[in-house]
Amino acid sequence: MVLSASIKLVLFIATIALAAIADVGATAIQPRTTHYKVRANRLKAASKRASSKVNAAYYPNWAIYSPYDFQPTEINTTSLTHLFYAFADISTDSERNLKTVLSVGGGSCSDHFSFITDSSKRATFVTSAVQMIEDYGFDGTDVDFEFPDTAARGSGLASLITELRTAFDDLQEKKGDTTPYILTAATSAIVSLYTHMNFPELDAALDFWNLMAYDYTGSWTDTADDQANLYGGSRTGVSTDTAINDYISRGVTVSKISLGLPVYSRSFEDTSGLRDSYDGVGSGTSEAGIYFYRDLAKSGATVYENTTDVSAYSYDSSKRELVSYDTPNIAKLKAQYVQSKGLAGTFFFDLSTDKKGNGSLVDTTADVYGDLDQTQNHINYPNSKWTNIRNNMGQGSGSSSASTTQSSTASTHQSTSTTSRSSTSTSSGSEPNIGSQVAQRSNSATGPPSIHQKV
Ligand SMILES: *[C@@H]1O[C@H](CO)[C@@H](O)[C@H](O)[C@H]1NC(C)=O
Ligand SMILES: *[C@@H]1O[C@H](CO)[C@@H](O)[C@H](O)[C@H]1NC(C)=O
Ligand SMILES: *[C@@H]1O[C@H](CO)[C@@H](O)[C@H](O)[C@H]1NC(C)=O
Repeated sequence: MVLSASIKLVLFIATIALAAIADVGATAIQPRTTHYKVRANRLKAASKRASSKVNAAYYPNWAIYSPYDFQPTEINTTSLTHLFYAFADISTDSERNLKTVLSVGGGSCSDHFSFITDSSKRATFVTSAVQMIEDYGFDGTDVDFEFPDTAARGSGLASLITELRTAFDDLQEKKGDTTPYILTAATSAIVSLYTHMNFPELDAALDFWNLMAYDYTGSWTDTADDQANLYGGSRTGVSTDTAINDYISRGVTVSKISLGLPVYSRSFEDTSGLRDSYDGVGSGTSEAGIYFYRDLAKSGATVYENTTDVSAYSYDSSKRELVSYDTPNIAKLKAQYVQSKGLAGTFFFDLSTDKKGNGSLVDTTADVYGDLDQTQNHINYPNSKWTNIRNNMGQGSGSSSASTTQSSTASTHQSTSTTSRSSTSTSSGSEPNIGSQVAQRSNSATGPPSIHQKV
């Protein structure tokens, strides 16, 4: 459908993007501060019961900036099993059950995936991905290719994921790790955007499919409508349940599917309601048409929850504004769907725009599951180029004597979006801390990227 050509939306997780991974040696990514992952409860046995669920979230590196203003220390690690992230360090209260996965790609980086049909370039990527895991102490890699738009690129993606799997298994074996390295891919729920994927080959290599079950509507659609409905979708032609059943019929293991929930809205102005035409999408918070979930519902608006379609929106009849987003009740129903369908769990895009405490979508689904995935993260990185990761993650004592001499320049996002990727950093002899990076980056003229990027 027409959607596919115009949508190209997306997640911009990317900050650490292909550009970074492509010249990993010259990248300026933060190693974690000392103590990261070190506060291990070593008495706690790794356990993973059949019913335990993944409750994951993306945490983009721009989250610390206005208007997001969400600091790593604010992360509620109790309700999370995986963090798909870039750049920022996380709380020192982290524990062994929180896995961190480097997310690579994103919508505005799709051009960088042109390498995917070239086997020797893929090999370079794989080598770099392994090196990134080792250098920065990640538990794995998440590939966000939005979207494989030809059969050749679909086949290239499957080859890349297979090659990454082989390399990660080799790495595990070489290091004697008991836990495998995690490999995930963020994929679309809109059929025209996933039709070129090789599902069986991908499924064999992936741990999880991060199904981006949102952005079904927005400024590119003709009418105001649900952006993340579980069922229904007769008006838009898209529903999450339909996509999941289609994935399964194409060879996907149901227990590998992680259901994506938006933590932001899609808004429509001057409309009389669902399926009506609209005029504009409003100025939004971070960009046109997008309000953060934590700011919703706006005063004066009434919230409508449809428990049949499992979707919600708010409507302000005086402003004639419709805002499509997930409420806690809807998140709860989606989590129950995850349980009854036997999916892997949920993930959120993104953590920084959630409410805190009562009303948190991330905590809501965690509470539904109760039993969260307890697979332990990795702490053994003897090959890191950073001494604190070499030593402290591997249970060294380590005081956090932060040396701060890194002179990293542009963020990777800026690098990828401007193509000036000369951000060579520095003396790898020192271990910069997050503070220095923040200070440098907040001085940058460009500022943080927006939450989604339309290509
Ligand atoms: C929920 O959505 C369906 C399909 O759009 C519609 O038929 C039904 O009337 C809606 N229910 C409510 C309570 O609005
Ligand atoms: C949590 O928020 C909901 C509405 O969002 C409200 O109905 C409920 O009373 C709140 N619970 C507590 C404990 O504050
Ligand atoms: C963190 O998440 C847990 C599990 O959902 C919840 O019970 C707890 O209240 C949350 N903590 C904070 C500080 O919000």
